[in-house]
Amino acid sequence: MTGSPPFKLRSRAWFDNPDNIDMTALYLERYLNFGLSLEELRSGKPIIGIAQTGSDLSPCNRHHLVLAERVREGIREAGGIVLEFPVHPIQETGKRPTAGLDRNLAYLSLVETIYGYPLDGVVLTIGCDKTTPACLMAAATVNIPAIALSVGPMLNGWHKGERTGSGTIVWKARELLAAGEIDDAEFIRLVASSAPSTGYCNTMGTATTMNSLAEALGMSLPGSAAIPAPYRDRQECAYYTGKRIVEMVAEDLKPSDILTKDAFLNAIAVNSAIGGSTNAPIHLTAIARHIGVDVPLKTWEEHGLNVPLLVNLQPAGEYLGEDYYRAGGVPAVVAQLIQHGLIAEGAMTANGKTIGDNCRSAVIENEDVIRPFDMPLLASAGFVVLSGNLFDSAIMKTSVISPEFRERYLSNPNDPEAFEGPVVVFDGPEDYHARIDEISTGITPATLLVMRGAGPVGYPGAAEVVNMRPPAHLILDGIHSLPCIGDGRQSGTSGSPSILNASPEAAVGGTLALLRDGDRVRIDLMRGTADLLIDDAELEERRAAFAAAGGYRYPASQTPWQEIQRAVVGQLGSGAILEGAEAYQRIAQT
Ligand code: FES
Ligand code: MG
Repeated sequence: MTGSPPFKLRSRAWFDNPDNIDMTALYLERYLNFGLSLEELRSGKPIIGIAQTGSDLSPCNRHHLVLAERVREGIREAGGIVLEFPVHPIQETGKRPTAGLDRNLAYLSLVETIYGYPLDGVVLTIGCDKTTPACLMAAATVNIPAIALSVGPMLNGWHKGERTGSGTIVWKARELLAAGEIDDAEFIRLVASSAPSTGYCNTMGTATTMNSLAEALGMSLPGSAAIPAPYRDRQECAYYTGKRIVEMVAEDLKPSDILTKDAFLNAIAVNSAIGGSTNAPIHLTAIARHIGVDVPLKTWEEHGLNVPLLVNLQPAGEYLGEDYYRAGGVPAVVAQLIQHGLIAEGAMTANGKTIGDNCRSAVIENEDVIRPFDMPLLASAGFVVLSGNLFDSAIMKTSVISPEFRERYLSNPNDPEAFEGPVVVFDGPEDYHARIDEISTGITPATLLVMRGAGPVGYPGAAEVVNMRPPAHLILDGIHSLPCIGDGRQSGTSGSPSILNASPEAAVGGTLALLRDGDRVRIDLMRGTADLLIDDAELEERRAAFAAAGGYRYPASQTPWQEIQRAVVGQLGSGAILEGAEAYQRIAQT
């Protein structure tokens, strides 16, 4: 049992406020009404919220409904009172038009909940892609003691003796189906095999990435991110998370004590070492902006590009979530990075110790799954940050460039790491799906595919559609990927080396809007440039004509939130947050 903290808990303003006995009585009466006793409410025990992201609509996080029972027991054991409440659901694969639309909405509602109710601390139940950033962004804004509990990845998927990774297998199965190598029934079997249990995607997609980064940031217990959802260790972790949040309240250990610049730099290094998702820069930028820490996109290249790839998980490697956990998870990765000076060891974490103290002596249990620093899968695994006349910023995940891709596009000795070609442009995913296999689009192995109208405004929330498979006739000829460029996102489970998150997007007048089929585009990874090869005068002419014609046309909003978000959302390069919300930081700070 933790003693009372040496300061007044914020929940006392609701339940024990002699200055406002009228309201105090009203609050007390209704919270008593569902079963809490007056003694409990007036005891001075901290009130801990469980922000519940699991529901039938969110299968990836649904296991949190079970885990929350153990969290409650931990909270009570440590002397806290529990109030559990729902978070707006975000299911990556279930939400139309895209779950990207919901991160900021869940953020907004969670800020209102944590700020507006009598909570002294909160357990954030994270998991499926955007639940993690939504929760961390809200905790950053409100800034009461907060700890994240991951739901954990699914068990490994298997099909005919081979690991099938959630998400990643879908991209492969689509190619097999397009090439006529499997039928519809086998397609479904293959895809379903990759999701054998409760939990989030077992690949190094956005979910495993963001849960690993929540731990690397220090916002969850050390060693907790990789525990598979159904394992008993996951239940235990839920219990200890509940116990710990009560202590954090007593210690007044807040997100602002944990989410420091060092914490973000650590997370960026870890992201490279795990082969993390291209969604990570968007979400980390958003969290950083809400806590008030400056992490410009270039930081990802400066601190992340030359960090080696150590974790051998699909899509960049071969293994899955269970293997990652058994090999040592995040602490084993961090220990390797510590040995090479890539971690700021003094960064504070949720358990009250520094990341250095938590992870320094962690060992790798399987060197095929987590490689020692000196035997990496790749020497540099981060993101290249590109800019030019095509956009102000976009990123490319170099760790997923296949030998085939490298051979075809990046092997000119006179022009290393650069390629150029004519573009074929698609306006949104519907246009792409309608025309990709038509011969008349004129796609050849030299073509660069461009996806526009897929950014936070154009396809509200930004769709994960930039990784485009080549037309079926090219796949039959053995061409498995073409360079892709776009203003949308791409699934972290995709192994495509796309140039994505381009900002500004076409819908707000970015140069992608001016592209025409056949224009030549040049990408130089060494110099970090991406340019449309026409002269400046013609580019300006096009821009003027485009503006005069009314700008880029995108589909009308279908819901009120789409319209509201479109009016205030920023670009992917700066985290795609609700721009006005940044003014509200650490609002519960006393
Ligand atoms: Fe939810 Fe992948 S779809 S974690
Ligand atoms: Mg996704």
